[in-house]
Amino acid sequence: MIRFSTAGESHGEALIALVSGLPAGVPIDIEFVNRELWRRQQGYGRGGRMKIETDKAHVLSGVRHGKTIGSPIAIEIVNRDWKNWQDKLPVEAGDAAKHQAVASPRPGHADLAGALKYNFPDARYVLERASARESTARVAAGAFAKLLLRHLGIEVGSHVIRVGRVELDRTATWDEIAAAGLRGEIVLSCVDSETEARMKEEVEHASRTGDTVGGVFEVVVHGAPAGLGTYANWDERLDGLLAQSVMSLQAVKAVEIGRGVTAAESFGSKVHDAIHYASEETGKASGKPTRFTREQNNAGGIEGGVSNGEDIVVRGYLKPISTLRRPLESVRFDTREATTASYERSDICVVPAAGVAAESMVALTIAGLAQQKFGGDSAVEMKRNFDGYIEQIRSY
Ligand SMILES: Cc1cc2nc3c(=O)[nH]c(=O)nc-3n(C[C@H](O)[C@H](O)[C@H](O)COP(=O)(O)O)c2cc1C
Repeated sequence: MIRFSTAGESHGEALIALVSGLPAGVPIDIEFVNRELWRRQQGYGRGGRMKIETDKAHVLSGVRHGKTIGSPIAIEIVNRDWKNWQDKLPVEAGDAAKHQAVASPRPGHADLAGALKYNFPDARYVLERASARESTARVAAGAFAKLLLRHLGIEVGSHVIRVGRVELDRTATWDEIAAAGLRGEIVLSCVDSETEARMKEEVEHASRTGDTVGGVFEVVVHGAPAGLGTYANWDERLDGLLAQSVMSLQAVKAVEIGRGVTAAESFGSKVHDAIHYASEETGKASGKPTRFTREQNNAGGIEGGVSNGEDIVVRGYLKPISTLRRPLESVRFDTREATTASYERSDICVVPAAGVAAESMVALTIAGLAQQKFGGDSAVEMKRNFDGYIEQIRSY
């Protein structure tokens, strides 16, 4: 079973990811892991914090001579900003005068609920852990899951399909999505440059008016075989597992599988993906391990909680960032006087970055299911089991 957890505060010394259950012998490319961390830091509309941090993975355990060894993998990502926060957030009691309180809770953030729950006098400690800085550690863990999936020929990518009122009005191909996520200068990771320019204007509008803007990203898993997840038990359904993993990301407020949202307002004859059967030759030409084919993929590659061999498509709907330069009304924690919400250096739009974090969550989920289905203590054993299953599907 692949398990992972994270630790660390937004302005603490470092973030930590702990991943266990990966088989031994998976080739690990640290440059790839760092590139994933870099991708999470990109996007038009990020705040000043991302200019300070240049995230790098420091692997402490579980990888030797460039390969996993089957032991738990501990990864540290140092916070460069820590030097400015050592006195404000010391591990020891420190000097209370240097404590930097978050005096009035921000509507939409975890500040008020967290302070009430943990009985904190202000929201500093809440912000430190609720912050999406935590997703950095998820991306490091997710990079390892991606490397395992790559070993099986499965890839995960994302692109942005909406920012505020601007929406991409066509389906993107896998090649376009893969390229959108790899551009040196990522702007908004949209596959269409004209739409991306209009998305950028939405961000500029939010920036000019002291506001923030949300949007929608789409994560695609390419090359996954039919048969991941099951309808047999409610908590083993692939759609349910993906929804949980993507919804758990900061600011994601809805998750859609395939065209789930528009399907609800359409007719069955228009929504469901008709099944065809290609001949041996055409099946091989399409590069797909199954000869059952679909011309459309409204189901997002999942039927009955099981992958069906098409690309798996998961969309995440992101609310606008809640820290506003023109803050909403709030109340002081100490005096209960009316005031405006606290402001701390913040992002304006994070849809591309959230897409990268969601890729990680999806990769971890798919890798976990692959590990469950194909097993194996070594990458060689897992691949052999995987190949045997692919052969079984091929000759079905
Ligand atoms: C990549 C990313 C970056 C974020 N950056 C900020 C930020 O700079 N300021 C902010 O207030 N919220 C930011 N958020 C969102 C908050 O972390 C989130 O809204 C908050 O923790 C409350 O959780 P909830 O929105 O899931 O209810 C970011 C989210 C993501 C995914």
